[in-house]
Amino acid sequence: MKVKNICCIGAGYVGGPTMAIIAQKSPEIRVTVVDINEKRIAAWNDPDVEKIPIYEPGLSEVVAEARGRNLFFSTDVDAAIDAADMIFISVNTPTKTYGIGKGMAADLKYIELCARQIARVATSDKIIVEKSTLPVRTAEALKNILDNTGNGVNFQILSNPEFLAEGTAVADLQMPDRVLIGGDLDTEAGKAAVQALVDVYGHWVTADNILTTNVWSSELSKLTANAFLAQRVSSINAMSELCEKTGADVNEVAKAIGMDSRIGPKFLKASVGFGGSCFQKDILNLVYIAKSFGLQEVADYWEQVIIMNDHQKRRFAENIVRTLYNTVSGKKIAMLGWAFKKDTNDTRESAAIYVADYLLNERAEVVVYDPKVTKEQILADLDYLGSRSEAENRELITVVDTAYAATREAHAVAILTEWDAFVALDWDHIYKAMLKPAFLFDGRRLLDKEALQAKGFEFYAIGS
Ligand code: NAD
Ligand code: UDX
Repeated sequence: MKVKNICCIGAGYVGGPTMAIIAQKSPEIRVTVVDINEKRIAAWNDPDVEKIPIYEPGLSEVVAEARGRNLFFSTDVDAAIDAADMIFISVNTPTKTYGIGKGMAADLKYIELCARQIARVATSDKIIVEKSTLPVRTAEALKNILDNTGNGVNFQILSNPEFLAEGTAVADLQMPDRVLIGGDLDTEAGKAAVQALVDVYGHWVTADNILTTNVWSSELSKLTANAFLAQRVSSINAMSELCEKTGADVNEVAKAIGMDSRIGPKFLKASVGFGGSCFQKDILNLVYIAKSFGLQEVADYWEQVIIMNDHQKRRFAENIVRTLYNTVSGKKIAMLGWAFKKDTNDTRESAAIYVADYLLNERAEVVVYDPKVTKEQILADLDYLGSRSEAENRELITVVDTAYAATREAHAVAILTEWDAFVALDWDHIYKAMLKPAFLFDGRRLLDKEALQAKGFEFYAIGS
C-alpha cells in the first residue's frame, strides 16, 4: 500500500522536526501534526517562521518550505486520526512520578490515551507507528487496547524509534546513520505495513540504511542505544575526576583512546554531566525492566551510569563553593548557559538546573544568561525541582540578556552549555568587570585554559 495521509500525535522535539522532514521529502504525502497543547500548535503556525516553538538549526527553513503545502499543524486530533492511513505516536513518555515504578518506570499514560482515542475515532484500517521511546513489549499493550475497543478496523503496529539528537535534528533526520523499523514480519499484513513505512523513508534514505527487525528488538534497541551513549559520557566523566587528581588531562586521554578504532572518537567529551530528556529517563526505564525480570546485577550495572552522572553535577557545584573559600553566600555567580547542550532551547534535565539549585541552597546570588532559553523556562525548571518556594527562586536568581550583564561584578563565572558564542566573547572585558580574584569554572572544556589564565582568570576546567 502507498501512504497518502500521515498524522503525527505530539508536536514536540521529535514529532515536529521528524514530520517536517517527511513532508519536505515527500510532497505527495499530506502530513498533519496534532497536539493538545494549543499554545504549541499556535507557535508552529506562527506566520513568522522564526517563532516556531523548537529551536533547531535549519528547522525553520524546512518548515517554511513545507508548511501549508503538505505539512499542517492542528489541534483537531480526531479529524487528523480519522483521515490518516498511518499514525505516528510521538507523545512524551516521562519517568513516572507516582505509584509503582515511581522515579524509574516510563509513564505510559499519554501513550495509552492516544491508543484509546485512535480506537474510538478510527473508521478505516490504519498503521500505528510508535515513534516515542517505549519499554520493550509496549506494542503488545497498544495492540490489545486497539483491538478490544476499536470499531472493527484493523491496526498494524510498528516500532520506529527516533535516533535524532537535539541541536543536530535536521541533519540527523536528513542523513540518518540508520532508520530502524520493527514490525510483525511473520504475517503478510505485518510485512506490508513495514514496507509502507520503508517506502516513506525511501524518499531520501537508501535501502542499506533502513533496518527491519521484529517489534521487540526495535523497542529494545532504542533504550540500548541511549544506554550505551550515556555510558560513554559517564565513563569519560569518571576519568575526568581521576585526571584532576593525577595531572592527566581528560581531553588528551579522550583523544588517545578515541584513536583506537574499536573505541572511536565520538561521545568522549568530558562535561559537567549529561542532560536532556532522554538519557536519564531511558536508562531508568531499562533499569526498571531489568529489575522487574529479577535481573538485579543488570539493573545495578546500568544504574551506575546515572549515579556517576549525578556525582559529576554535584562535584562541579561543590568545587565552586570550595574554591570560593567555602562560602558563596551573597556572592554573585554568573552561569553562562542553561540548555542541556548547545543549539537547542530544550532544558530538560540540564546539568545547569542542578548546579544552580546547589548554589542557591548555599545562598549564592545566581545570574543566568542563555542565548535561546527564556526567563520563564529557567524559573519553571527551578520551581519544578521544588527545593524552595517560587517566591524564593525569583528572589535569588536573576536572568539577563547578555553574557556581559551576567558577569559584571561577579565573583565567579561558570560555563554550563557549550554555546559557540561563549568562545567569541570579549574575555578581557569580562575579566576587567569582575571582582578579583576572578574565578572561571569551565564545565564544558570550551575555553583555552592557558589563554584565559594569561588574562588573569583563576581557571578550573573539568578533567585537568
Ligand atoms: P515533547 O514533550 O517535546 O512532545 C510531546 C508532545 O506530545 C507535547 O507537545 C504534548 O502536548 C503532546 N501530547 C501528549 N499527549 C497527547 C495526546 N494525548 N494528544 C495529543 N498530543 C499529546 O517530547 P519529545 O521530546 O518530542 O519526545 C517524544 C518522545 O520521543 C518521547 O518518548 C521521547 O523519549 C522520544 N525521543 C525524544 C528525543 C529527543 O531528543 N527529545 C529523541 C528520540 C526519541
Ligand atoms: C540523545 C541521543 O544522542 C539520541 O540519539 C536520542 O535519540 C535522544 O537522546 P540528545 O539528548 O538530544 O540525544 O543529545 P546528545 O547529543 O546525545 O547529548 C546528551 C547529553 O550528553 C548532553 O547534555 C550533552 O552535552 C552530553 N554529552 C554528549 C557529553 O557530555 N559529552 C559527549 O561527548 C556527548
